[in-house]
Amino acid sequence: MDFLISLRSRLLGIGYRWLAKPLIFLWPPEIAHDKMKAVGKFLGNYAWSRFFTRLLFHYQNKKLNIEVDGVHYNNPVGLSAGFDKDGELTRIYPAISFGFAELGSFTGEICPGNPGVGRRLFRMPKSKSILVWYGLNNQGAEKISERLKDQTFQLPIGISAAKTNISSEFDLEEAIEDYVKTVVLFEEIGDYYTINISCPNTQEGEPFVDQGNLEALLEKLSEVRPAGKPMYVKLAADLEVSEINTILDACLKFGIEGVVLNNLAKPEFNKEYVKEELPFHKGAMSGLPLQRISTDMIRHVYRYTEGKLTIIGVGGIFNAQDAYEKITSGASLLEMITGMIYEGPQVMGEINQGLVKLLEKDGFSTIEEAIGSRNPLPKK
Ligand SMILES: Cc1cc2nc3c(=O)[nH]c(=O)nc-3n(C[C@H](O)[C@H](O)[C@H](O)COP(=O)(O)O)c2cc1C
Repeated sequence: MDFLISLRSRLLGIGYRWLAKPLIFLWPPEIAHDKMKAVGKFLGNYAWSRFFTRLLFHYQNKKLNIEVDGVHYNNPVGLSAGFDKDGELTRIYPAISFGFAELGSFTGEICPGNPGVGRRLFRMPKSKSILVWYGLNNQGAEKISERLKDQTFQLPIGISAAKTNISSEFDLEEAIEDYVKTVVLFEEIGDYYTINISCPNTQEGEPFVDQGNLEALLEKLSEVRPAGKPMYVKLAADLEVSEINTILDACLKFGIEGVVLNNLAKPEFNKEYVKEELPFHKGAMSGLPLQRISTDMIRHVYRYTEGKLTIIGVGGIFNAQDAYEKITSGASLLEMITGMIYEGPQVMGEINQGLVKLLEKDGFSTIEEAIGSRNPLPKK
């Protein structure tokens, strides 16, 4: 059976690389994103299409089951925030082997995102990256929560909350209320929250890197958040160690369960891309340029917090080895987008199957045993 699934993935991968991807890449990236979402939405709408998608892309193994902060996951490979900005494709994710999906980022108010609709994404294929200049476009927390409130989900759902990007003026009270609005509206929807304080494409920058602002935000969120639903904070990719530690201390102080590492990398702070490929002077990069930074940050956070904070590792996961490196560095869960775009929708199944092989090779019987195994904490 394992052999047949490998063969299936290999054939699908070849089909994607030589047929589907060249066609999809004929569209400008933002248009291609919209078209692929439409396909995912269509496939999710009918039992027959979910069944056939599952037949082609699904992989499952008990060794990958994991419980994190009280939530059960069939596998640790999730969709990262930003692909499904309005929460429209939830019914197709289990069929393509995602273990969970983080929706959004949702903002308190309707957010059109940055100007230039249709031209806010850029491919950097040699760098295995996407330059993103969306600026948090989404329909707003009210409309989306209203649509999702009666849905049942077949996998754990993360709700990513960000501050509405419609003004360059920063007002602390207003900004906090914006996050609170989303958190409260999604009280009954989804399984965890991510507080996105690290979008690199907003008009007002990243004001919640400041300790005072962050503590005010987390204090308020700790008052309004529903009991028993984990909350994570998503960090930027270009922070100084002292800034990272300040955020971690604040998370520990206000009972935040963990962190998502990391958001997109800004080209001015990151040189791990092919220079001639940078197509636009704004935006920030996903994929390979982020891979090492995110894994290094996972290692640091795991050691600094002595494993007390849950880590969701994200950035440049293209195969099982990349995924395993983040897990053995200390991540309990993983997220991805760019790997799926460059490798194809069979890649989540391939990563899961590859993870099982890597676990067996290292003598582990569950994914949980592998967490942090190559980043041992100092003995007390
Ligand atoms: C098209 C696109 C849109 C994104 N939008 C968001 C977003 O709204 N909120 C967020 O927290 N991260 C967003 N991100 C960042 C991803 O969640 C993730 O942190 C980053 O892409 C690294 O993962 P990857 O290398 O697997 O793509 C976006 C990424 C991409 C590629």
